[in-house]
Amino acid sequence: MAIEIRKHGRVGAEILGVDLSRPLQPEALAQVRAAFAEHGVIFFRDQSITEQQHIEFAREWGTININRFFAAHPVHPEIALVVKEREQQHNIGGGWHTDHSYDFEPALGSILVARALPPQGGATAFASMYAAYDGLPENLRSRIEGRYAVHSARHVFGSKAAVYEAVQDTRSDGRIGNAAAADLLDDPVHPVIITHPLSGKRAIYVNPSFTLHIQGLPEEASRTLLEEIYAHCRSPEFQEDFHWRDGSIAFWDNRATWHYAYNDYHGHRREMHRITIAGSALT
Ligand code: SIN
Repeated sequence: MAIEIRKHGRVGAEILGVDLSRPLQPEALAQVRAAFAEHGVIFFRDQSITEQQHIEFAREWGTININRFFAAHPVHPEIALVVKEREQQHNIGGGWHTDHSYDFEPALGSILVARALPPQGGATAFASMYAAYDGLPENLRSRIEGRYAVHSARHVFGSKAAVYEAVQDTRSDGRIGNAAAADLLDDPVHPVIITHPLSGKRAIYVNPSFTLHIQGLPEEASRTLLEEIYAHCRSPEFQEDFHWRDGSIAFWDNRATWHYAYNDYHGHRREMHRITIAGSALT
């Protein structure tokens, strides 16, 4: 089967002509790797893969990083469950973020497989941090070049999380938890602008969920500067929605994109399986 790579609007690319239930041949894998590095997020449609095949595909890219804060799949702990039950109000990932920026070696990417979808809604938005970097106005670029930012998971997953009340309903049934582990984490520092390890392109690497502050700036100046960066990164010109269907898979690069799970399907269940792949320190 010949592989076709079709741009997905402003962000990402759809890969046609692959069957992820079987190992990809080296040439096909090389094409998929190149598309991933170039576009930041790749999408597959009409796939039918088991949990084990999901794990095997993930292992083609690196070591699996088992999520410490989401419930694990009962049989395959490599798979984190991203579930919203019919009666829940809050969802996982309902704010712009990139996974695991709170790690010293942030995750390479995450592979999300749709397992149960609401009749409508439940899309995921992606924003390209390559495009956001390329579109930086000069006066903002010059103020953030060479700066570093502190990231953390404690305010999101820890016992003193500001959002604790908001996510009570998910914590109480065990789908987000492990606050004690989050409390013990040290906060890493990453460049605000990175050189992407696969593509060599530059990308903005701060995000509204996990970035605490810009190193070396007073609190107010850091907050204002981060808000300015976020307002820029949230521009519609850098974003595209992905509408899930049965058999859809999204594989995003956490160093090149942000994502956001819409929470617009109350009263319906949505179950996604996520595998996150370990990355490396960023420069
Ligand atoms: C996530 O943020 O990892 C989940 C995204 C989604 O459920 O669409």
